[in-house]
Amino acid sequence: MPSRYQIVQEQLQATPKTWLVTGVAGFIGSNLLEALLKLGQRVVGLDNFATGHQRNLDEVQTLVTGAQWARFHFIRGDIRSLDDCRRAMAFPPAPPEMGRAASQPGPIPVDYVLHQAALGSVPRSIEDPITTNSANITGFLNMLVAARDAGVQRFTYAASSSTYGDHPGLPKVEEVIGKPLSPYAVTKYINELYADVFARTYGFKAIGLRYFNVFGPRQDPNGAYAAVIPKWTAAMIQGEDVFIYGDGETSRDFCFVENAVQANLLAATTADPAALNQVYNVAVSGRTTLNTLFQELKSALANNGLSYAEAPVYRDFRTGDVRHSQADIGKARRLLGYMPSHEIKEGIVQAMPWYIRFLA
Ligand SMILES: NC(=O)c1ccc[n+]([C@@H]2O[C@H](COP(=O)([O-])OP(=O)(O)OC[C@H]3O[C@@H](n4cnc5c(N)ncnc54)[C@H](O)[C@@H]3O)[C@@H](O)[C@H]2O)c1
Repeated sequence: MPSRYQIVQEQLQATPKTWLVTGVAGFIGSNLLEALLKLGQRVVGLDNFATGHQRNLDEVQTLVTGAQWARFHFIRGDIRSLDDCRRAMAFPPAPPEMGRAASQPGPIPVDYVLHQAALGSVPRSIEDPITTNSANITGFLNMLVAARDAGVQRFTYAASSSTYGDHPGLPKVEEVIGKPLSPYAVTKYINELYADVFARTYGFKAIGLRYFNVFGPRQDPNGAYAAVIPKWTAAMIQGEDVFIYGDGETSRDFCFVENAVQANLLAATTADPAALNQVYNVAVSGRTTLNTLFQELKSALANNGLSYAEAPVYRDFRTGDVRHSQADIGKARRLLGYMPSHEIKEGIVQAMPWYIRFLA
């Protein structure tokens, strides 16, 4: 029997939709863009390049056909501007010289929003809570208002496992959260509250996806706020020290980006009323310690002909970091038909050649 994901992909190919992906030049956003264009969808992308890169868009262009790329419209804009958010709610008409004017007389309204734009990173939010707040809360509210006014069918947004905060229970179930441990976690929780209030107040249809440590190609290995997998992979390839905060027994539910893409497409298209206005864990329900991750990355590198002989360097625990994180993904399985296609090992095998190419 085909999975719901297979069915959704076939339906989208048969009847293409118009999507808005915010944060499209970022890691997850550019992976969403690639998947949607390959399915023949029309995509408006919004990004201000705060942490995203033109090179991610350029890379997607090399991975799709010319006809698919022509269905992408990029807006350089900021979600902190309500005008920019409103501008992104329709795919513009093609200029007459492209010969598409007759079949596309005016702007095509966006059907589905995949809102990814935000400032990630717990440490960044601790150092600069105001900037994180403006992108993640003011920007989020602008997007909600613009999407509501444009009458989009569905608003799917990037929530975060950081919302579980200090609650010690494992695995994490959506209904039981603790107190946020960082400004970043506050912003992501506020997103959920706003989406819920918009659903109750305006009959808006939103779904939040609580991502757990997503990784994969195009995740930025550079900068002070890089995530652990790209940061360590880069250090290993460049022969530098790998730092582990704490004793290395801190654990995470690492989620390959293709699983996150799947969750977005399922959430955007579900017609089940019970599935709407909910938040879902997006992960694989695995639990990998940092010490194990270190070994996994080392052996994936070795399988690509590169060796790293150093031991990791242990440092103090970092403020704001959650000790253990593992998702219960039963709710997404039940209500969205979510079935992660990649465990951490498979994801690392798929991502490693990209990092080697990128950092070469
Ligand atoms: N990667 C993860 O493990 C993870 C985990 C939980 C939640 N998330 C959330 O997923 C989303 C995507 O994360 P990512 O890992 O792809 O990060 P990313 O930094 O690669 O992508 C975020 C994108 O948003 C853009 N952006 C930031 N502020 C903006 C603004 N004011 N206006 C317009 N664009 C703006 C950035 O330029 C960037 O391209 C974020 O909302 C993040 O909080 C990610």
